[in-house]
Amino acid sequence: MSGRRILVTGGAGFVGSHVADALVARGDAVLVVDDLSTGDRANVHPPVELRIVDVSDARALGRAVEGERFDAVVHCAAKTKVVQSFEQTQRYREVIVDGTRNVLDAALATGARDVVNISTGGAIYGETPTRATEETELHPPSPYGQLKAEAEQLVQAAGLRGVTLRLANVYGPRQRQDLEGGVIAIFLGAWRRGDPLTVYGDGTAERDYVYVGDVADAACAALEGAFTGVYNIGTGVAISVNGLIEMMSAVLGPPTCVRNAPERAGEIQRSCVDPSKAARDGLWRPRTDLRAGLERTAELA
Ligand SMILES: NC(=O)c1ccc[n+]([C@@H]2O[C@H](COP(=O)([O-])OP(=O)(O)OC[C@H]3O[C@@H](n4cnc5c(N)ncnc54)[C@H](O)[C@@H]3O)[C@@H](O)[C@H]2O)c1
Repeated sequence: MSGRRILVTGGAGFVGSHVADALVARGDAVLVVDDLSTGDRANVHPPVELRIVDVSDARALGRAVEGERFDAVVHCAAKTKVVQSFEQTQRYREVIVDGTRNVLDAALATGARDVVNISTGGAIYGETPTRATEETELHPPSPYGQLKAEAEQLVQAAGLRGVTLRLANVYGPRQRQDLEGGVIAIFLGAWRRGDPLTVYGDGTAERDYVYVGDVADAACAALEGAFTGVYNIGTGVAISVNGLIEMMSAVLGPPTCVRNAPERAGEIQRSCVDPSKAARDGLWRPRTDLRAGLERTAELA
């Protein structure tokens, strides 16, 4: 179905802006609310409309959407940095937990019946020696992951059709290179500048990398049909940092040099999510393998 009116929170950010573009491409009208704290106005493309507002401020959000009618909400706005969440836990709580509550209230007030909540697989399961399914017990090792888990509970209890997507490590065009987390974007920037790559630890830490275009497809699909509850959105395949550098070298040529730095506190050794429930239920399956996604990212970023 298309031709609906959708509210996208955090739609000036990396994931949210791809979601907004994908919705417009299939014929939906999109309003973005974002405080531009880590997002960029340049990521919002007409006819998408941007209203600058902090979702943790219930009144301001209420004013920003007053008189509007929406069919659905895709909630992407969040603070997303693991290390920063230890230092600014209260602010993280305001944005992630209070912000989600306020967005759910705004959804109800504007007539929306469906909410797609963008959550994290990478930061919510803890160590995943094999692959985490949606039934795997949660062990979020940081306030960021713990607060995202709280936000998930709010979505499930909201009385709306709620779908929570637990994303693996997302990469692709528009990911910022200057923030903690997006290792592919950071490496790509270093490659382009001819700077050395910094690897924390011995490079054996493994992650499941999912292409942002595939994530946007998942958000669009979750708006359809009768899906409810939690779905992992990842590839189910983990690759080490060393393996990633090897694959990026095949796409970009060899890097200037690779430097090893001490492992960072709280880093997980292996994070990988099992996306088979989404495939089984006909919601989504990954389309872009890492090599193809890296090529597209290198071309577009
Ligand atoms: N990038 C990943 O690898 C990844 C992995 C798992 C989950 N996620 C989730 O995806 C979502 C988007 O993350 P992203 O990677 O695109 O990061 P991002 O920082 O690019 O996007 C977040 C957006 O939310 C906005 N925002 C932050 N605080 C806000 C507030 N108080 N009010 C209004 N807007 C606010 C930011 O300005 C930004 O545009 C988040 O919910 C994050 O937890 C991302």
